Amino acid sequence: MQPIDIGDLRLDASNTSKQSALYLAIQDKILNGLWPTNGRLPATRLLAEELRVSRNTVTAVYEQLKAEGYIESRRGAGYFIQWATPDHYLHTNTQGELQRSLPPPSLPDLPLEGKETDQRPPFDAHVRNRPFAPGVPDLVQFPYKKWARSLQCHFQRAILGGQNDIQGNLALRQALSDYLSFSRSVDASPQRIIITVGAQQALYIAINAILEAGEKVMMENPGYAQMRKVLDRSHINVSYLPVDAKTGADISLLDQFDGKAVYLTPSNQYPMGTSLNTNDRMRCIEWAAQKTDGKQARWIIEDDYDSEFQFANRPYPSLQGLATKFHGDAANVIYVGTFSKTLLPAIRVGYMVVPESLVEKCLSVKDAIGGDTAMHIEEVLAEFIAEGDYLRHIRKMRTLYQEKQRVFVEALHEHFGDRIEVISQAAGLHVTFRWQGGLTALEAKAALEEKGVTIRTLEYYCDANTVNEMPDWMQRTLVAGFGNSSLEDIRQGVSILSACFRERT
Ligand SMILES: Cc1ncc(COP(=O)(O)O)c(C=O)c1O
Repeated sequence: MQPIDIGDLRLDASNTSKQSALYLAIQDKILNGLWPTNGRLPATRLLAEELRVSRNTVTAVYEQLKAEGYIESRRGAGYFIQWATPDHYLHTNTQGELQRSLPPPSLPDLPLEGKETDQRPPFDAHVRNRPFAPGVPDLVQFPYKKWARSLQCHFQRAILGGQNDIQGNLALRQALSDYLSFSRSVDASPQRIIITVGAQQALYIAINAILEAGEKVMMENPGYAQMRKVLDRSHINVSYLPVDAKTGADISLLDQFDGKAVYLTPSNQYPMGTSLNTNDRMRCIEWAAQKTDGKQARWIIEDDYDSEFQFANRPYPSLQGLATKFHGDAANVIYVGTFSKTLLPAIRVGYMVVPESLVEKCLSVKDAIGGDTAMHIEEVLAEFIAEGDYLRHIRKMRTLYQEKQRVFVEALHEHFGDRIEVISQAAGLHVTFRWQGGLTALEAKAALEEKGVTIRTLEYYCDANTVNEMPDWMQRTLVAGFGNSSLEDIRQGVSILSACFRERT
């Protein structure tokens, strides 16, 4: 069984003693079945470091839990969960039983082959993935050798060459079920997980499973531009929750919204980098608990984007988990996640966790649009998660990205002083920053483009019809990805940005 990740474990700050806060937090995870029986608890040193408590505190809590029969210690192997909460005390979370360095890739120097037309320039992987391009993880750090070995094994299994389960490989759903429950407090039995071709397909399925053409959805503005494409193609009317740089999405507007669904990125609002606090999460949950016209269900689509990479604070547990605590199976939350940022976008694997009542509907949408993930990849991924490699990789990348984010912000301060303000929280794979007066973001982007740096304007993430009403600072805000940039790339990129400002203002 994969070791338990510290995940979203948080200490209640109102508790005066760290020891009792930690005890209660772990007990809560165990009693809610989120930390599964037989799961290995995090090492005391690791937990102490992450939660910034002393190792003695952790050891004392483990010993107390052991004395009370929640956990046991196994010589030389660590502490393991012993307690099993009876099923009827749990919501639907049935813990599934687990069945169980290529050299750094060099990106092609030339544009990949493609049909050149006036409208569509040939795809150039070099440009799309270069420093400061948002949404690209570190392409060099992926464990290519390990994957190649595992893929080679599975690729020789003839049975995996045929048709796939439309819901996705069961071993992968089981491994994900455990991972999501202890990392994100998601209530996710394997029967309610659907494997998709990235989060993008999951969003398309979700919208088409719950809404009819002409119905309404609310989403954040600025927000995920790819979601707007899904809504447009599905003929859904969109209303907006404006996102403030400090206070995040204005959830109060939901109260007057008479549509059926809201799409949110609560962990790390994309691209502004705010997170939704517990009050706002509860407000969304209460909104969804009411029915439109007293009969039709309302839905929350939670895109748990970037939840794995929080650097300054402990991550909030998922909104889906919180909603399930209050409304059990009736919590109308569709939880969406992806491996595009934690592993590679090219793997094209994402997932959705839906209420049991929605599984068949979602599968019928997926069946109609096709697009199964390769079974070999699913097998490799299932093994990667179940054996604990996924968690190890996330931990390694979290440390690396934290350093990249720190260096990025430091370089901005060095070159611009307080003329530039970073508005995104210390999380994820990008930095969003703004300034007043001088160059517009569009001008800055064009100047950077000439010097080989790809960056996005905040405007790109806004509905075109709202751009004219945007406050001035939004037209002077850039979104820069640092995932696939080395520390040197970051320093150099910021220095180029600063040169562009000096030349043109
Ligand atoms: C908000 C948001 N959700 C999801 C994704 C991931 O999409 P996919 O899994 O289709 O690559 C992205 C990618 O940038 C994103 O920005």
